[in-house]
Amino acid sequence: MNLSARLNRLEPSATLAMSQKSAELKAQGIDIINLSVGEPDFNTPDAIKAAAHKAIDDNYSRYSPVPGYPVLRQAIVDKLKRENGLDYTPAQILCSNGAKQSVCNVIMAIVGEGDEVIIPAPYWVSYTQMVKLADGEPVIVPAGIDQNFKITPAQLEAAITPRTRAFILCSPSNPTGAVYSHSELQALAEVFKKHPDIIVLSDEIYEHINYVGSHASIAQIDGMKERTVIINGVSKAYAMTGWRIGFIAAPEWIVKACNKLQG
Ligand SMILES: Cc1ncc(COP(=O)(O)O)c(C=O)c1O
Repeated sequence: MNLSARLNRLEPSATLAMSQKSAELKAQGIDIINLSVGEPDFNTPDAIKAAAHKAIDDNYSRYSPVPGYPVLRQAIVDKLKRENGLDYTPAQILCSNGAKQSVCNVIMAIVGEGDEVIIPAPYWVSYTQMVKLADGEPVIVPAGIDQNFKITPAQLEAAITPRTRAFILCSPSNPTGAVYSHSELQALAEVFKKHPDIIVLSDEIYEHINYVGSHASIAQIDGMKERTVIINGVSKAYAMTGWRIGFIAAPEWIVKACNKLQG
């Protein structure tokens, strides 16, 4: 009774293990501040709850289209325009069961055996495991407190090899809270210009939990939208972690690939 090599390679989520530990300590009456899972400190807003009640009453309870209902994809297009100044079409949007599945879909769709994926550290622990699950190799680029937890263009350039397939950017960052400014993203984009085959996964799930100023997306920089996959969802912004709704906004060929996988 053997497990697959793929599963054996996988380390269980360190975040969930920490969360479990904190629950155990709390149960023993110990005063614990749990900084593990990114659970907002408010509840899902009432208007959203009311809309969900209505959706259940209206029988929105059957199989939905694989990429998400057209009205939902349109609402995401409208959000990207309104909040991020980005033009997408519904065909460039794919909804999934949380941003976690969105990230995993993209990695499974574009990363193959031996492909390298650059991940700045400290990082959300799931990224490396997902890359390993796809038979790829995480390439970790450290960015300590001395550089505000942000990598420099020189570090990015040095990490790129002919095998580099993707780069994962998380801004605002889990776990550090670091936020890349528009000009910092522009400087990274200058490096990507020299390497046109690298796809950027821009995880923007913490867009609205930002303590340093306005949010910038690397997709806003000239030439980047065509090779960027924006990852976002409602978990953090609207305290809907248990609802499991995430999405990608990406070039159509990537959306089609993820749709195929998800289907
Ligand atoms: C950086 C990052 N990306 C994505 C996710 C996944 O969010 P979701 O609840 O939409 O799956 C998390 C959740 O903790 C996260 O920290």
